[in-house]
Amino acid sequence: MHVARTVSELHALTSKKKHIGFVPTMGALHDGHLSLIHIAQQKSDMVVASIFVNKTQFAAHEDLATYPRQEQTDLELLEANGTDIVYLPSDELMYPDGFSTSIDIGPIGSWLEGQPRPHFFGGVCLIVTKLLMQVMPTIAVFGEKDYQQLLIIQKLVRELNIPTSIIGGPILRDADGLAMSSRNQYLNKKQRAIAPSLFACLTNLSNTIDLSNYHQQLTQHQAKLIEAGFDSVDYLELRDADTLEPINDTTEHYRLLGAARLDNTRLIDNLMCLGN
Ligand code: PAF
Repeated sequence: MHVARTVSELHALTSKKKHIGFVPTMGALHDGHLSLIHIAQQKSDMVVASIFVNKTQFAAHEDLATYPRQEQTDLELLEANGTDIVYLPSDELMYPDGFSTSIDIGPIGSWLEGQPRPHFFGGVCLIVTKLLMQVMPTIAVFGEKDYQQLLIIQKLVRELNIPTSIIGGPILRDADGLAMSSRNQYLNKKQRAIAPSLFACLTNLSNTIDLSNYHQQLTQHQAKLIEAGFDSVDYLELRDADTLEPINDTTEHYRLLGAARLDNTRLIDNLMCLGN
């Protein structure tokens, strides 16, 4: 496995390959990330993973300073899972002094995750655009756990004509249903025991949802999350799976999405919903 820290180092390693598969990460890797590497391997002839904790997607009060960093372990995991190149750009390379470009993806960036985190998708779009322009992959794989992020990145590459296919990787879960996330390591024992209720709630809703009366069901399930021990629920929503708009008569696919907090840790999850 090769490590590249600059764009020219990266291009020296990738220039002879036709089909590059790319998995961007912020490190603190878990099996969910590694499953994305395996998807990229099947669809390309060289896999590049990046590790970069992107400051523009964190607000001042969020966990940038404490975001888990474990570069050596991450490199070992990537190598053991057949990654060809790890790209480790510096903050100075990505955001040199005087940097002022921004990307606004439009209204979809202010819904759901964008409500409590208005800066978030602008920062994600900016760094993903930069990474895609630098790595120039044929495909890039993003986890479906960040479902809104996945749809937004698909929209971004479509609208900016970036020649990369964006592929979603299924959510990986612990045995009790908790979606794997780097932030799960913030949970203490008691919180970890409460955390799977978010997936249980989405599963229950997905099995019982009545599309003619779902608002009431969502409200009841929000209350169930609080009863289960969550400190607050940011949202629990049923949306059009293709656009993330509220559902209407033309909706073909449905997605349940939720975000809830255990003290300072915010967990998100989502599930396809067939609808009754
Ligand atoms: O999902 C993530 O880990 C990040 O948002 C991403 C896509 C690597 C951009 O920093």
